[in-house]
Amino acid sequence: MIKPITTMKGAFDLTGKNVIITGGNRGLGFGIAEAMAQSGANIAIFCRDAAKAAEALENLKPYGVTCKSYSCDVTSLPSVRAAVAAACADFGGIDILVNNAGVSCTKALLDMDEDLTDWYKVINTDLNGCVHMTYEVAKRMRDAGKGGCIVNVTSNAGFMVNHGQPMSPYSSAKAAMNHFTRCMACELAQYDIRVNGIAPGFTNSELSQHIPPENMSYITTQTLAGRFGEPIEVGALAVYLASPAAAQVTGTIQVIDGGYMLRC
Ligand SMILES: NC(=O)c1ccc[n+]([C@@H]2O[C@H](COP(=O)([O-])OP(=O)(O)OC[C@H]3O[C@@H](n4cnc5c(N)ncnc54)[C@H](OP(=O)(O)O)[C@@H]3O)[C@@H](O)[C@H]2O)c1
Repeated sequence: MIKPITTMKGAFDLTGKNVIITGGNRGLGFGIAEAMAQSGANIAIFCRDAAKAAEALENLKPYGVTCKSYSCDVTSLPSVRAAVAAACADFGGIDILVNNAGVSCTKALLDMDEDLTDWYKVINTDLNGCVHMTYEVAKRMRDAGKGGCIVNVTSNAGFMVNHGQPMSPYSSAKAAMNHFTRCMACELAQYDIRVNGIAPGFTNSELSQHIPPENMSYITTQTLAGRFGEPIEVGALAVYLASPAAAQVTGTIQVIDGGYMLRC
């Protein structure tokens, strides 16, 4: 059983916790890395682009925590297995896993090629990548017997059909991730592992730069907050979900989209 907090002192503190963040080298993943490092956690970034990872590690230096990067393609189980083993050896165990790596696709199903390459790329990265990471990390959390926390970055697109751009593989992968989150919360509770999701709306990153200009004004008008989100705001929510303050929170999907979905 995970003990409740008795005071707000240290309720959001992650000091000494070891975190893996997939896609932590840029965008929302880096916002989560920055927020968690500022809250005292040691950071392991999993991604493919080594130059971008080196840049991220440099930017995390001021926070004085241990930060390392690992080459990992989340679509490949052997790659995930090797990277998780290396991070566990370096850090002595993992307390928090953030499944953030993701790709999108704005193509209608009937415009895809004969092999459905785009469909498989998104499903293999967003959904199967999350499953691969959860399998490898949760096993180690279970065996270490200290509990743990998993945060899955999904999307508000997992709850609705986006206006203006067809994105069925992305929305379907995110909807499946939402339910995988609930299933894992039930399966892993016996090991004191909490599992929650974050469903961001439009947030500033390289991924959101591909939105056609004609859709931009529609999006900001529809969003009650009147703007895109920032990666550090998603990071703040991830810190809360991973913190002692959230000991009673599991199996939830927290929407952070400035109110966009309310008017869809
Ligand atoms: N931006 C938004 O508006 C928005 C809204 C809702 C949800 N999200 C979700 O937030 C997450 C991050 O998105 P973002 O906007 O920050 O996107 P981004 O800037 O394009 O970054 C994507 C990240 O995923 C990593 N990645 C992609 N494929 C990978 C693979 N096969 N193996 C390992 N890492 C991989 C990339 O690292 P490498 O290329 O170095 O591997 C990169 O760090 C995604 O899951 C996305 O669906 C974003």
